[in-house]
Amino acid sequence: MGLLNDKRGLITGGAGFIGSNFVRRWYDSATSTLVLDALTYAGDRATIADLEHQDEFELICGDICEPALVAQLLTSHNIDTVVHFAAESHVDRSISGPAVFVQTNVMGTFTLLEAFRQHWESQGKPEHFRFLHVSTDEVFGSLRVDDPAFSETTPYAPNSPYSASKAGSDHLVRAYFHTYGLPTLITNCSNNYGPYQFPEKLIPLMCVNILLGKPLPVYGDGQNIRDWLHVEDHCRAIESVLLQAEPGETYNIGGNNQVKNIDIVEQLCELMDDLGGDLPTRPTQQLITFVKDRPGHDRRYAMDISKIQRDLGWQPKYDFATGLRQTVQWYLEHRDWWQPLLSQDYQRYYAALYGDRVEQSEF
Ligand code: NAD
Ligand code: DAU
Repeated sequence: MGLLNDKRGLITGGAGFIGSNFVRRWYDSATSTLVLDALTYAGDRATIADLEHQDEFELICGDICEPALVAQLLTSHNIDTVVHFAAESHVDRSISGPAVFVQTNVMGTFTLLEAFRQHWESQGKPEHFRFLHVSTDEVFGSLRVDDPAFSETTPYAPNSPYSASKAGSDHLVRAYFHTYGLPTLITNCSNNYGPYQFPEKLIPLMCVNILLGKPLPVYGDGQNIRDWLHVEDHCRAIESVLLQAEPGETYNIGGNNQVKNIDIVEQLCELMDDLGGDLPTRPTQQLITFVKDRPGHDRRYAMDISKIQRDLGWQPKYDFATGLRQTVQWYLEHRDWWQPLLSQDYQRYYAALYGDRVEQSEF
């Protein structure tokens, strides 16, 4: 495989969960790293603090929706590669407040595309320029239990404001390739887990709640299925696509690892009972609480990853049991990272989302 060492990258959303994991990987081998991140509630400077004083690394706190800022960064830093992670990423928040999802995910992606197109054209359309857009399996909608997995040709059928805004951004990226020949790539990935994930998503939320002795809120009947992939495997896949794929291509990425939500929560309880030492409640399984379902909750996602396996030779490396154990251990050892995130804003968010969810005793 080629190396990143001739690349000058703009990484958007590099202070978030997947972006920060990717930035570490990128910084180790690329010529220069410029992170553009608005540092919303989901972006944390502390996550990449150790990189901030390194040579050829810069974090700009700014909004991808600002055309002048984006254009200036592309030219002043001679950027040839954009890896675009920045987004509003949480489905529940998109249900209670969809406007910012359309603004960041659709308008932000449009702003980046348009600025990058002008930059690429002004440089004489160099062949090595790339714009890689990081997207999600949720654009394909929901599967029934026996349906085949999503492939790259599955029609889009997004069901939440989050997935609809991601679908809109994917379509813009596709259009910029077809209309202008801009060298774009799209990756659609399944659910990630691992270090530095904000404690609003299933796995970190359950870890943090166990450590605080709080109820573990499982939506609906807990039978919804997601295809889980370790974040490091996702970052390796993005690098493979960036270095090897033809412009205009899209790749599905996943873990071949479909798990029911309730099974994950039970595994997390077992791991915490095993590794957690002096926990507020034991056994932790008694914290499991079935609550009112997420509106429009997609039942199942699964990714057919044969294209990326065949074309690029990528495979997930982590098995789920090992990855989950490592992740639980990480949350146990990094209270200093997650405790400050449980701010007043977080408490308000938590109360609004979970406070009035009625316990469902029938499950
Ligand atoms: P995240 O919420 O942890 O991080 C998002 C980052 O984007 C944060 O650092 C935030 O500050 C930044 N950001 C938000 N709005 C911005 C704006 N207007 N300008 C600049 N920066 C802004 O998200 P994540 O889970 O790391 O996801 C990253 C990307 O991967 C997203 O595009 C998401 O749709 C996609 N994705 C996520 C998953 C997953 O399981 N988490 C799976 C597939 C795809
Ligand atoms: O599939 C990829 C997507 O995965 C990404 O595009 C999104 O950015 C990411 O947030 C994630 O979306 P999900 O909605 O699948 O992830 P979340 O962690 O919010 O929920 C996972 C499952 O767990 C889902 O079926 C809802 C359920 N859940 C979630 C929370 C937060 C619960 O039962 N209880 C909870 O408290």
